[in-house]
Formats: sequence, C-alpha cells, structure tokens
Amino acid sequence: MRKKKDLVSLRDLDRGEVFNILKMARKLKKRPLLCKTSCGDKTLALLFQKPSNRTRISFEVAMVHLGGYVLYLSPSEIDMGGREPVKDVGRVVSRYVDGIVARVFSHNDVQDLSVYSDVPVINGLSDMAHPCQALSDVFTVMEAKGLKKVKLAYVGDGNNVLNSLVMAAAKTGLNMSIATPAGYEPDAENFDEAVREARLSKAAIWKCNDPFEAVRDADVVYTDVWVSMGQEQDREKRLKDFRPFQVNDRLMKAAKPDALIMHCLPAHRGEEITDVIDGKNSIVYDQAENRMHVQKAVLLKLMSS
Ligand code: CP
Ligand code: NVA
Repeated sequence: MRKKKDLVSLRDLDRGEVFNILKMARKLKKRPLLCKTSCGDKTLALLFQKPSNRTRISFEVAMVHLGGYVLYLSPSEIDMGGREPVKDVGRVVSRYVDGIVARVFSHNDVQDLSVYSDVPVINGLSDMAHPCQALSDVFTVMEAKGLKKVKLAYVGDGNNVLNSLVMAAAKTGLNMSIATPAGYEPDAENFDEAVREARLSKAAIWKCNDPFEAVRDADVVYTDVWVSMGQEQDREKRLKDFRPFQVNDRLMKAAKPDALIMHCLPAHRGEEITDVIDGKNSIVYDQAENRMHVQKAVLLKLMSS
C-alpha cells in the first residue's frame, strides 16, 4: 500500500510536485472532465469549523468532476475538539472516507487530523496556512504574467494566506515583496524557510513595513482582509493599525501601470481595498475560478489510485 500524502502546508510539496500540480491544473482547466472517473469509487469529507464559499464549492464541484462523492460537514455537525477530540474524529472519519478537507481555527487541529487519519488530509484553511489558495494564486499569476521576472507585492496582514503565498512564490520562482504593519509580520519560521527555498528557485523575497516601497515595480498587487475569521474581537484595533495599508488608487499608481490586482476573497471594500477591485486590472474572479482547477489536480495527486 502506498503511503498516504497530506497537504497540511506547502512544506508537504517539493518544487517538482508543485509544478506538476500547476501543469495538471492547466490541462484540467481546458478539459474539466478529463479525469471524470479518476475518483469514481472515492468519498471526500469536508470538515469545516468556519464558513466558506470558494473552498467548499470548488472542492465539491472538483470531486464531482472526478466522479467522486462529497460529504460536507458544517461547523455545527462534527464539533471537532468540542464534542470529541480531534484524534478520534481523524481515526473515525478515515474509516468511512478516502480523503478529508479540513477548515479549522487552530493549525494544530489539522496537523493532528493528519497524524490520526489513515487517509489524505488537505488543509482548507487554518490560522496558519491556506495552501490550496496559494497554489491557485501562483497558477493565476502564471496564466496572467508567467512566473519568471514577475514581482508580486503583498500588502496587508501577515496572515494564513500570506504564509502560504510566500512559500508558493519561493517554490515557483515568483519574486515577492511584502508590506505589513509592524507587529503583523508573517510567521517568522515559515518566512525564513521560504527565503531559503527562494535561493534554489532564484526568487527575490523580502519584507518591509512600507506599502509604497513594496509595490514599487510590482506586476501584481495582492491583499487580504484585515480581520480574519477568528480575530473578530480585535477588529477595531486592526482597522486602525492597517489603515495606511489599504490597496487603493494612490497605492496602485506606485506599482507598474498595468499592475494586476489579486485578493483571495471575501473582500471588504472600504477596508483593505477600495473599488479598484472592480476595475479592469482585477483578476480576483479568475483567481476564485482557478481554485477548482488547481484543487482538482491536488485531489488527483493525493486521492486517485
Ligand atoms: N478564499 C477562500 O478560501 O474563500 P472561502 O473562505 O469562501 O472559502
Ligand atoms: N485570511 C482570511 C482568508 C479567508 C479566505 C481568513 O482567514 O479569514
């Protein structure tokens, strides 16, 4: 029996595996039903502790396109860690299904699920990482601009989305600058590992606390919410601290003239971004669509036998 493989963070994929997923996603985007029986006898459980539009729907439809079956378990249904310990959920659910996508508050919970499940576990967002989002994001940049000699500037919170994006950029050779307010930097250990990884792919990756410095010469400007799910109690302070980091006309003028705008969504217009998100340089809906194509490639890698 082959050893199961998880996607808890992008550390689980080497560079070759990332590029294979991107290549397969490109084929699947052209022909969505190319592998319509590959997961024909497989069931995927979505265990979600938080709400979702894109992650839930894109995984469900991806699995249907692969001929498989999906069970969506909403935050109130399993109550992982409340009604029973995460390890029991992992052990039990993996007796029924062939793969698990988990959206959790604490990254430890998705790590524990991977330890105690006999089937592949995919992180559908934790407080630390959002690997499926980041794979789709580099795919979207690749489609729009290529990955070589392209600079993506991330402006905003050093959160789950950024932690995964910087690792995806490092693995694929995408140059990346980051501007966060002081005290809101991305996870230091993950960032240092990304910088080491970037030496191999020859990407330049650096961070600062000045949004205008970060976006200079940027081909793509990326932002995410200032208040992630689970941080609602800090909302007022965060809105104040992040105010100078809004992606708006003035900031976009400091990037390249044709710079594209990315956001993982959901977006809060008037907070981290203005209506520039609705302009002609915004590729946020391609980004959202690509979740499905890329995750289909991930499912094929992890679940099809
Ligand atoms: N970007 C993203 O993960 O969206 P959802 O929270 O709607 O799944
Ligand atoms: N950083 C956001 C991403 C949502 C897709 C959050 O965790 O809420």
